[in-house]
Amino acid sequence: MRRKLVVGNWKMNGSLAQLKELGAIASAARNSPGVDVAVCPPFTLIAPARARSAGLAVGAQDCHGKDSGAFTGSVSAAMLKEAGARLIIVGHSERRAEHRESDAAVRSKAEAALRQGLQAIVCVGESDEERRAGRAVEIVSGQLAGSLPQIGEGEGEIVVAYEPIWAIGTGNTATPQDVAEMHAAIRAELGRALGGRGGSVRILYGGSVKPDNAAELFAVPDVDGALVGGASLTAKDFVPIIEAAAGAGR
Ligand code: 13P
Repeated sequence: MRRKLVVGNWKMNGSLAQLKELGAIASAARNSPGVDVAVCPPFTLIAPARARSAGLAVGAQDCHGKDSGAFTGSVSAAMLKEAGARLIIVGHSERRAEHRESDAAVRSKAEAALRQGLQAIVCVGESDEERRAGRAVEIVSGQLAGSLPQIGEGEGEIVVAYEPIWAIGTGNTATPQDVAEMHAAIRAELGRALGGRGGSVRILYGGSVKPDNAAELFAVPDVDGALVGGASLTAKDFVPIIEAAAGAGR
């Protein structure tokens, strides 16, 4: 049985003042012992967030694929771990698009996170155009095959997040049928890539997850949690999503 995992991705939002939201979010996490909860604020807020969030894991939104070196402006997984991060999102579609990150670059970032014993959340997802062309499963399976790290014993955990690009920040959520089809395809690809271990990898859905659609999404087979953008910025919206995950696990 895979535990539900609910992760907030604050993207380039937030401030020290906004960390006050973490009190109620951490309290909801402590009241939902069957659910793992994490928040990924911008790099500069990781250490202060960690100090204010007992019961809540804190993560990052990206890392470099190398452990150290002459890479101006970049941050390594080891540095993020030292700041208090327990997980790192890699290959988000906003980074794949804006920073032209390839599948190979995403894989090296995921492997860097795993080398530090951190969770790597590998994001995949098709564009609107690709879905309309009937190529969604093919595109996502290809991204996964190219981005998935090879894990060894004793290293960190791989998590996959399916985030259809057309559902991010648009209010358009994928239908439960579309999500079920894609998560089953991802589960099959995980089996091909990782053998028996593929069955224990958690697959999150992301893209306009809100308090009013979370329960329906968590009821879909192979949906092991959510990667939440806008609705993770306030406790008012994020806490009901955590509670929906707790309800789905009962
Ligand atoms: P929204 O929940 O704002 O649609 O963002 C989803 C996302 O990109 C999370 O990584």
